[in-house]
Amino acid sequence: MSSEPLLKVAGVETYYGNIRALAGVDVEAHKGEIVSLIGANGAGKSTLMMTICGSPQARSGQIVFDGEDITRLPTHLIARRRIAQSPEGRRIFPRMTVLENLQMGAGLDNLKYFKEDVEKIFTMFPRLKERQTQRGGTLSGGEQQMLSIGRALMSRPKLLLLDEPSLGLAPLIVKGIFEQIKRLNQEEGLTVFLVEQNAFAALKLSDRAYVMVNGKVTMSGTGKELLADPSVRAAYLEGGHH
Ligand SMILES: Nc1ncnc2c1ncn2[C@@H]1O[C@H](COP(=O)(O)OP(=O)(O)O)[C@@H](O)[C@H]1O
Ligand SMILES: [Mg+2]
Repeated sequence: MSSEPLLKVAGVETYYGNIRALAGVDVEAHKGEIVSLIGANGAGKSTLMMTICGSPQARSGQIVFDGEDITRLPTHLIARRRIAQSPEGRRIFPRMTVLENLQMGAGLDNLKYFKEDVEKIFTMFPRLKERQTQRGGTLSGGEQQMLSIGRALMSRPKLLLLDEPSLGLAPLIVKGIFEQIKRLNQEEGLTVFLVEQNAFAALKLSDRAYVMVNGKVTMSGTGKELLADPSVRAAYLEGGHH
């Protein structure tokens, strides 16, 4: 692709104390793409996503978003650049209602769009509309995941980061959530960077994907290429994740 990527991660190393969790990672996402990162538990997927958001910060390498070097920006300023994440484990506010959780996502900049944007989220996930006055902590896992994604979308992101949205959810719920991600991507051109252990679902959804092993990207290709690759199949697709 000729144009500059929306997100470019180059040579990024991230440490926890003396432990190197990312050992020189290069990934890119172009505008309008769904890109996924697959890999086993402990590979460094969440660390990459959190490093993009600035916490922890990369010790070396560079992260460029929309033409700007964001490697050393504090997390709140990275969020202001319109990168939103739905983190691993969802992290919704359990004592706040569904509607209040969505308000928290909107931020002050977007309050004027609040009604319109909430309606969009409710159309996307009607369960959230039914439960809008219910506290987040009382929702099912799937509903919490919908809320986590909805909250991220309320900030009107240019890039949506999703960390393991399928974790612990029934296949039918996962299918519904992934369909909504695809629809957002196709209808609104939203760029999505998806981290998943559910390699089958992620690769099927993605334009391109990366495989991470021990803090390094070991393989990349289109979703189709990786789905067909024997080593990917052996490592990540056997054993019926679908
Ligand atoms: N807060 C932390 N402190 C120390 N080590 C961590 C921390 N978070 C993750 N790690 C380590 O970093 C490595 C990558 O973890 P993580 O990014 O969570 O992997 P993944 O998301 O692919 O499962 C693992 O070895 C993990 O134990
Ligand atoms: Mg993780």
